[in-house]
Amino acid sequence: MTNKNKNNQAVLNSTWTESLANNQQPDSKALLAHLRTVHRNNAGFTEKCASSCRDKAGRNSYEWLAEIVPNVDGIRVLDLACGSGPLLKILYDRNKNFKLKGADISPEELELAKARLPKGSVDLFELKAQNLTAIDDNSVDVVLCHWALTLMNPITPVLNEIRRVLSTGGKFAALVNGPMDAAPGYNDVYNLIYEYVQAKLPKYGEIDLGDPRIRSTDSSKNLLSEAFPDANINIKTSVVSMEGPVTEVAETTAGFFYASFILPPETRGILLSELSNLLAVSKQSRDPERQGRFSMPINRLLISK
Ligand SMILES: C[S@@+](CC[C@H](N)C(=O)[O-])C[C@H]1O[C@@H](n2cnc3c(N)ncnc32)[C@H](O)[C@@H]1O
Repeated sequence: MTNKNKNNQAVLNSTWTESLANNQQPDSKALLAHLRTVHRNNAGFTEKCASSCRDKAGRNSYEWLAEIVPNVDGIRVLDLACGSGPLLKILYDRNKNFKLKGADISPEELELAKARLPKGSVDLFELKAQNLTAIDDNSVDVVLCHWALTLMNPITPVLNEIRRVLSTGGKFAALVNGPMDAAPGYNDVYNLIYEYVQAKLPKYGEIDLGDPRIRSTDSSKNLLSEAFPDANINIKTSVVSMEGPVTEVAETTAGFFYASFILPPETRGILLSELSNLLAVSKQSRDPERQGRFSMPINRLLISK
């Protein structure tokens, strides 16, 4: 649900945020409804930040994740929680003979994916990752999941579904948060955004979207080895960064954090100005055209069945 504040601007309000306001743990239905609302109002927002942030070799995290897929005609790939489809587009551009599928819960994100991909090139499904009914057992060679596993709760049915659809010798690779201290300044950005969010909803952070176990390297490894007992698990950490006019970098950075969507516009405006000061490359200048830089830590999980 979105209400309008006194300036007639949208403020996000859902049963998930209401549970937090009442000091209660939201259930999985509330989580799905909250995610659908955020993505209905802001479709394509992940891509905006993730496609601009690049590692030292110049790759963004979609390109880094896509490297897992061998360039073999006919290989069957599922992009789980594909959003607006940037990863599917990279794969399609690499090899027109890949057999591509995408699944997501957000109709608005799927519309964007459909619009950017040539007709008939990719099968898109509106599905929950916990219940991939349209995908047959052993029918996929690679499952990819970019910036979405950390949103899913319950997570065990998702991992079970991935195991079910993967063929023997198949691979599952996911792009998730890396260790907070791996990227310079990331902790400060996170703390600033959550300081503003917690002033409105004190429980946000202690309770967050998804299953907390998938957010730390050690606990995600345990969870994955429970779901894929005989598989080889490899976790690589990297850092991606973007640079540009600081006001744009601050806006794109804040927009990447789901938590920031609960802020009323006037509070968000104050946050953006503080974030601009934090991200400015030169702390001296007050010039609005000054440059800014945001860096974030990422992990690539790779499970070879
Ligand atoms: C942060 S966005 C990432 C989108 C895309 N993978 C990207 O990186 O651009 C997270 C996506 O996960 C989807 N999502 C969240 N929970 C899901 C679930 N349980 N099943 C399927 N999709 C889900 C959301 O609708 C959203 O499109």
